[in-house]
Amino acid sequence: MSQPLKLGVAGLGTVGAGLVQLFEEHGARLALALGREIKIAGVSARSRHKQRGIKLEGLPWFDAAERLATDPAIDVFVELIGGEEGVARSAVEAALKAGKHVVTANKALLAKHGTELARLAEAQGVALNFEAAVAGGIPIIKTLREALAGNQIRRVYGILNGTCNYILTQMQEEHRAFAEVLKEAQDKGYAEADPTFDIGGFDTAHKLALLTSLAFGTKVALDHIHVEGIQGISQADIEAADDLGYRIKLLGVALLTDSGIEQRVHPAMVPKHSAIAEVSGVTNCIAIDGDFVGNVLLAGPGAGAKATASAVASDILDVARGAFAAPFGVPAAGLKPYRRARLGQHQGAYYVRLSVFDRPGAMASIAGRMGERGVSLESIVQRRPRWALPGIDAKPKPGAPTAVILITHETTEEAIRAALSAIHADGNVSEPPQMIRIEPL
Ligand SMILES: NC(=O)c1ccc[n+]([C@@H]2O[C@H](COP(=O)([O-])OP(=O)(O)OC[C@H]3O[C@@H](n4cnc5c(N)ncnc54)[C@H](OP(=O)(O)O)[C@@H]3O)[C@@H](O)[C@H]2O)c1
Repeated sequence: MSQPLKLGVAGLGTVGAGLVQLFEEHGARLALALGREIKIAGVSARSRHKQRGIKLEGLPWFDAAERLATDPAIDVFVELIGGEEGVARSAVEAALKAGKHVVTANKALLAKHGTELARLAEAQGVALNFEAAVAGGIPIIKTLREALAGNQIRRVYGILNGTCNYILTQMQEEHRAFAEVLKEAQDKGYAEADPTFDIGGFDTAHKLALLTSLAFGTKVALDHIHVEGIQGISQADIEAADDLGYRIKLLGVALLTDSGIEQRVHPAMVPKHSAIAEVSGVTNCIAIDGDFVGNVLLAGPGAGAKATASAVASDILDVARGAFAAPFGVPAAGLKPYRRARLGQHQGAYYVRLSVFDRPGAMASIAGRMGERGVSLESIVQRRPRWALPGIDAKPKPGAPTAVILITHETTEEAIRAALSAIHADGNVSEPPQMIRIEPL
């Protein structure tokens, strides 16, 4: 047997406790497979006396994670604290500077400081592994960095936030309103007390920033992501989408175009019989379009103690084998500057829901505004809604608003936005138009 690999584990919450449990259960088998033992040589968390349901007796305890990070007794610093600044950042930097390998699940830290941390790790000749930072148990980082490295990736997209997918699935299956489902998700512990980070799309954006960098060899560019959340999705949209053969999913999409890379997070319509549409509840799913491999789809648990610990363990095993690469696949010095494609130039079809006052000429004026901007319509549906639309009676009176659903042919974002703003300004609609992009699969 070679020398044991010694870990310093900082953070013993959901993921940290899951990791300790994994090595308790599988340590002996892994030691045989690797030809070396993996030992936890020190731990750190905020509260020393908290009951965590794991065995910590005999393990050296460090009140300060930064001290554990540089302790001579450890080879690998495992950061499972979280947060883009503060202790997580200072301890990871200290570990790298001290020549320790780092394994982390911290998407926020990497989305903000990934390029500079990668540079530091490479300068020290150590690993900076972060499989658990994107989509929990799904091995997407290694898939992009290693398994699909021979391809030119054209697009990476997916469902990267379980909370949002749970809410949209419940709205779809139970015909319930967004606010009601969100409250239930909070009660069940699927959503945070402050859910903005999840439902506003920011959590998805952090993960997308890392995927973009791995897929396209560019510097991590979190600040260049167009982010929309799911707060504006109503039961009316979910049911109209269903009637038209679609599901609504919160997608993170990174797309290579002639004018740069589009990075966007927003609710999108996907055909209801596509594999991605069928990913329901808290499950995550990522699709990759590569020029040689074609379309690859990975689905699985995006969070949770065991699934996330599984991903953290795989990073640790790579270090134990001495098999680690540049964190973002290419050396940090070779990462290209991120070139942002203008969202206005985004090409695609759109779903539009309008609450149109039922009066002569209104529809003709709307169609005219679309025509002026070169937006042609694939379908127009105007009928009594089976959904409960605020302000719309099931039996509309003359002059009262009626729900009108439009599906456009492919156009540009600039054109559809201009047409909708003109339609709103004309006063033929009772509320701002709803617009959802249709993602071609
Ligand atoms: N939960 C998931 O399913 C999941 C999935 C993918 C990635 N992640 C990522 O994994 C990381 C950890 O998430 P988690 O859900 O395990 O969080 P968590 O349950 O809140 O645990 C955080 C841990 O960090 C400890 N901690 C807080 N401040 C500290 C400090 N100053 N020094 C040392 N330890 C400190 C806490 O100590 P106490 O226990 O004493 O309070 C706790 O043990 C985050 O980066 C998260 O984004 C989580």
